[in-house]
Amino acid sequence: MIREAKTRADLAALCEIWASITPREPMTTEQLERRRERQPERLYLLAEEEEHAVGLGIVAPSDSPGRMFVGVRVLPGFRRRGIGADLYKRLAAHARGQEPESLSTLVSEADPDSIAWAERRGFEEYQRQAELVLELRGDEQAPAPPGGIELVEVTPDLHKAAYELTQEAWEDLPLAVPVELSAFEIWLEEEMSGPISFAAMEDGEMVGFAGLIGRDAPGLLEHGLTATRRTHRRRGIATALKQLEIAWAAVHGYRELITFTQDRNQGMQAINLALGFVAKPAWISMRRRP
Ligand SMILES: CC(C)(COP(=O)(O)OP(=O)(O)OC[C@H]1O[C@@H](n2cnc3c(N)ncnc32)[C@H](O)[C@@H]1OP(=O)(O)O)[C@@H](O)C(=O)NCCC(=O)NCCS
Repeated sequence: MIREAKTRADLAALCEIWASITPREPMTTEQLERRRERQPERLYLLAEEEEHAVGLGIVAPSDSPGRMFVGVRVLPGFRRRGIGADLYKRLAAHARGQEPESLSTLVSEADPDSIAWAERRGFEEYQRQAELVLELRGDEQAPAPPGGIELVEVTPDLHKAAYELTQEAWEDLPLAVPVELSAFEIWLEEEMSGPISFAAMEDGEMVGFAGLIGRDAPGLLEHGLTATRRTHRRRGIATALKQLEIAWAAVHGYRELITFTQDRNQGMQAINLALGFVAKPAWISMRRRP
């Protein structure tokens, strides 16, 4: 049976399935509730068998104007029984009701069955995100900042400057489709919820910014955006910020860092690999006309 996930218990069941399929990218019931309040066009579905949740479906607006994200996940033991197809039918009908220009979905490179499943429904790859992880030893050291640069914790008085720098950086992301940065308040809520962000300052001006985002999985943190002002690139600022994040995470007992970046982002990829991050299977963004 497929039904809408409405209550907190429903959303908790949805999060559990999500986390069992992608444990490194868990979601929380609070996040799902908050986002649905903000975006009432969202739809969350649960597929149940004998009152146990075995699959989920999500429709959500994306960062890209006119594109609706559609996500289907079915527990491995319950695949090839039409549950995903039924979920997708409901999700696609709901998404089309929003009159989008395209539907998109995200599939792991390591999951050829799911790629083929999406292809059979008319989805085609349009970009890839690299996933990289770094296991922490615990004794990672904070870097010496590049000359003339001071590395500081981002405090609320620096939030506006960090948002402006994020806007500049988003313009430079090598993406196949245009994206729109969310409004300041939403950005604060989604990207600055902590545990900590750092800024690179030169003469009182922010020239670099990098944030760590909490993940609802033990010992794990995710790197948010890393950004350096166009005028200050190739001076080691992003590398120093990321090293500082690594040292901070190690000292605070975290054991693993995860980061996602566009596979065409040569700069960020080079920095991550030089810092010892190891590539995992990529995430393939696929889309189709509605
Ligand atoms: C990616 C970004 C953060 C790099 O910042 P930066 O401060 O210039 O990076 P660093 O100076 O620490 O780079 C260190 C090394 O990484 C590599 N690197 C950095 N940028 C590169 C680029 N554009 N092309 C190829 N290699 C690059 C180089 O090996 C560089 O060392 P070098 O300058 O001695 O050759 C910056 O270009 C930026 O803000 N881009 C827009 C936002 C973005 O893409 N963020 C990442 C999204 S996930």
